[in-house]
Amino acid sequence: MMRSWFATATSLRFLLLALAVSDTLAIECSIYEESIIARLGGKKEVSNQQELDIKYAGCTEIDGPVIIAADYTGDFYFPNVTKIYNGLITVNHYSQRQHQQEQVPVPLLTSIEVPDLNNTRFIEIHGVPALRTISFPSLTILDDSLSLDEVEDCFVDFPSLTRTVDLQIIGNVTRLSFPLLADGGTMRVSSNPKSDKEYSNYLIVDPVDQAPLDIKFPALQNATSIYLQGSITSLSMPQLSKIGNDRQFDAGNLRILTHGNRLNISLPSLSNLRHLSAAGTIGSLNFASLQSIERFEVNTSTPLNVTMEPMGAITEILHLLGDVTAVSISSLYLLFNLVIESDSSDFYCSSIASDFERLQGRKLKSYDCIGHPPKSKLPLQLGLGLGLGIPVFLVVAFLLRLFFKGPWVKKVWGTEMWTPQPVVKPPAYELGVPPTYATDGPPTYDASEGEQGSEQGAANVAGTHMGDGSSVRGEGASEHSAGDAASARLGDGSSALHEGASGRRVT
Ligand SMILES: *[C@@H]1O[C@H](CO)[C@@H](O)[C@H](O)[C@H]1NC(C)=O
Ligand SMILES: *[C@@H]1O[C@H](CO)[C@@H](O)[C@H](O)[C@H]1NC(C)=O
Ligand SMILES: *[C@@H]1O[C@H](CO)[C@@H](O)[C@H](O)[C@H]1NC(C)=O
Ligand SMILES: *[C@@H]1O[C@H](CO)[C@@H](O)[C@H](O)[C@H]1NC(C)=O
Ligand SMILES: *[C@@H]1O[C@H](CO)[C@@H](O)[C@H](O)[C@H]1NC(C)=O
Ligand SMILES: *[C@@H]1O[C@H](CO)[C@@H](O)[C@H](O)[C@H]1NC(C)=O
Ligand SMILES: *[C@@H]1O[C@H](CO)[C@@H](O)[C@H](O)[C@H]1NC(C)=O
Repeated sequence: MMRSWFATATSLRFLLLALAVSDTLAIECSIYEESIIARLGGKKEVSNQQELDIKYAGCTEIDGPVIIAADYTGDFYFPNVTKIYNGLITVNHYSQRQHQQEQVPVPLLTSIEVPDLNNTRFIEIHGVPALRTISFPSLTILDDSLSLDEVEDCFVDFPSLTRTVDLQIIGNVTRLSFPLLADGGTMRVSSNPKSDKEYSNYLIVDPVDQAPLDIKFPALQNATSIYLQGSITSLSMPQLSKIGNDRQFDAGNLRILTHGNRLNISLPSLSNLRHLSAAGTIGSLNFASLQSIERFEVNTSTPLNVTMEPMGAITEILHLLGDVTAVSISSLYLLFNLVIESDSSDFYCSSIASDFERLQGRKLKSYDCIGHPPKSKLPLQLGLGLGLGIPVFLVVAFLLRLFFKGPWVKKVWGTEMWTPQPVVKPPAYELGVPPTYATDGPPTYDASEGEQGSEQGAANVAGTHMGDGSSVRGEGASEHSAGDAASARLGDGSSALHEGASGRRVT
């Protein structure tokens, strides 16, 4: 009795209010108001346009979330509402088993358009494969989050949005429109759903083509962190200057995972970033304003020249994997740690050896940098042939000499054997200096490296037979020790040996 009187009273109040006010005055409707609840027989969610129109008739400001039911069918068009205190969401249930809210798909929802809304806290839309458009043309600020999950072929249109705290767009979007977004908060645009493995697998890309994704945030200046994944066809964030948040320890990441066309990554204004990771089909990298970074990590599956200039400091690690064709670190004055594992035949660790030594005060080792042997087979045989030929010749010469001169030669063989060329200085490996690079597996050489093969082989055999005892070959000969040994021992030097000594590395 009391209750129905109350309902009638509030309905009446609402009616009087609606009649009294002109359309310039905001009409605030609370979802807890009996009148509103009563309009759909107590149902919280709306299932179609008609129910939406009835439930929120006359409302311009709504206190409480507007909920789209799992069976919502067709378009959702919601004009005249300027403010939803809470947010707009698709229905979810609390799962006792998972101890969290579970999203429920809304498979028949075809569009969402809320033309006048300029103020709300969150928009959370999940499981909407039929959604083709989501548009909030007047929305300028989202205090909390925009979360679109499992969208397909959807145009995402927020032409007035300038700021949000959290922006998640997951699924296949055809087009993103955020022309005024200046602060994006924690941003994620991804064709794949979120995964638990992201903390460890941020350099691994599934080599599958997904719907092409153009990522364009023309006004973006700040973000807390950014995660981009998909078949990214282009990336444009020309004003982005800062990724990070001083109050959040896990902020400051830019992660890019792409497969498909080679993606040029150029962020000309970015000057503040803690951790970059880029993986997949990377075409180029360009960070013209970035002076320092903690971690710079790239795993490229297409040929990539990594040019760090104008970067000055890498305070944790420079980590480069995959088809890295060239690396330039000449502008660095601080490099805490370096790991390069290139499988490109074009890349030589020696190209960065002097910069590395300048930065670290020690020689580059195999655990810092690995290049990769070329694939060619025929030149390999040529190289091995030369590599073995000269040492065999030397061994034979040595044995012959031993045989003809008698056992007493052993006492002086160190000098006697090689007297034709005076030894100016002992090569590095004889002084117990460890090799500076090592190769994994058997060395292989292509045509251009054939001479180096012979040069290394010669040097190694010479070293072994000179009885210095250090196993140069054991870990793989360094170009320096090989070159030094060759020029010291075989001083007359074929041109091939001298060329080898100039310091190109095989691996
Ligand atoms: C929106 O407001 C206009 C006038 O301001 C009115 O004609 C129209 O019916 C309203 N639409 C809804 C769905 O309330
Ligand atoms: C939102 O729109 C209403 C009505 O047009 C207006 O009065 C208000 O100033 C707007 N708010 C913002 C933040 O733009
Ligand atoms: C994206 O589209 C592809 C086909 O183009 C489909 O296989 C995939 O399931 C879609 N992903 C999502 C999250 O909708
Ligand atoms: C971006 O961050 C800087 C420094 O934290 C701040 O001064 C600036 O107002 C921010 N810009 C936007 C658009 O949020
Ligand atoms: C680098 O990418 C390749 C595939 O392109 C993958 O197999 C490898 O595990 C990745 N490396 C790391 C350290 O994630
Ligand atoms: C990527 O950059 C290269 C030059 O570095 C250029 O030739 C190529 O056209 C660019 N690709 C795209 C899609 O812009
Ligand atoms: C890398 O740079 C060299 C010249 O320094 C150039 O010849 C080569 O084409 C470049 N490779 C790529 C993949 O950009």
